Amino acid sequence: MKPVIYITRKIPEVILQPYRDAFDFRMWEKENEPVPRDVLLREIASVDGVFCLLSEKIDHEFLAAAGNLKVVANMAVGYDNIDIQAANEHGVIVTNTPDVLTETTADLTFALMMAAARRIVEASDYIRDGKWEYWTPYLLAGSDIHDKTIGIVGMGRIGEAVARRAKGFGMSILYHTRTRKEQAEQELGVAHRGFTELLEEADFVISLVPLNEQTDKMFNQEAFGNMKSSAIFVNASRGGVVDENALLEALKSNEIQGAGLDVFANEPISPEHPLTGLDNVVCLPHIGSASTDTRTKMIELCLDNLKAVLNGQEAITPVR
Ligand code: DGY
Repeated sequence: MKPVIYITRKIPEVILQPYRDAFDFRMWEKENEPVPRDVLLREIASVDGVFCLLSEKIDHEFLAAAGNLKVVANMAVGYDNIDIQAANEHGVIVTNTPDVLTETTADLTFALMMAAARRIVEASDYIRDGKWEYWTPYLLAGSDIHDKTIGIVGMGRIGEAVARRAKGFGMSILYHTRTRKEQAEQELGVAHRGFTELLEEADFVISLVPLNEQTDKMFNQEAFGNMKSSAIFVNASRGGVVDENALLEALKSNEIQGAGLDVFANEPISPEHPLTGLDNVVCLPHIGSASTDTRTKMIELCLDNLKAVLNGQEAITPVR
């Protein structure tokens, strides 16, 4: 008997096909809609593995409902949707998708920073809204990126990939992590700073920290108060690391100049949310790793992890 996998969103058959010898699949057949919780809890009762997305909460209730479950493969590098301790207690292995999305997410992070600095979305809307009549000296003038200082908070793989891009733009690169990364300092010429010093010095503050108890709302009123009034804040990690009310106030009162946000505390963010109405904010629907190639690699890595664990081998990318 083949192991049975439950997949919580529709995945194209062409990707699943090579794995059909290894598993029997059951799948939520909608691409754009998450599986309702009651359906999920019913479906997982008898499966050996689950392929899930960020939209699924893997908690005690889920794990208790899953009688045979051995492995959960999360289609993301971040895993704040999963109670890792609870998974450990239930003897369930958790895997994520590091590495395959690093460069794609760094591309988007840099693009978001550039879009916010050079007012790209606002400028595009300017034409669509029929406002462009003349070329004028300061029409939609934004901030330079080259030769400025970028401050990366959270210097993991994606942080380093952003630093490499920043180097190409002639930027000075600061980073903040709890422990210094001497190899990155040597290889990339990045300089470590305390959190407050980084906020005070950087023209662009880039959040790439995972969400956990230490980072929850770390970008709060005090943090925005420490930034330059010309600073642009970019969040490409998790919305929960930002106090969104404090960010809104900082943007409205020009305490900082602008923001680029790919992630929000509650996703999807409502189009009525006040952050989406500000001209100096670029909002994206959590598309950091969303290139077709990378999303395919993430799916395949999930399936490879499931296959390895259910064949009695080590997971390829386990969350420890
Ligand atoms: C991740 O992998 O954690 C991303 O946020 C999803 O693209």
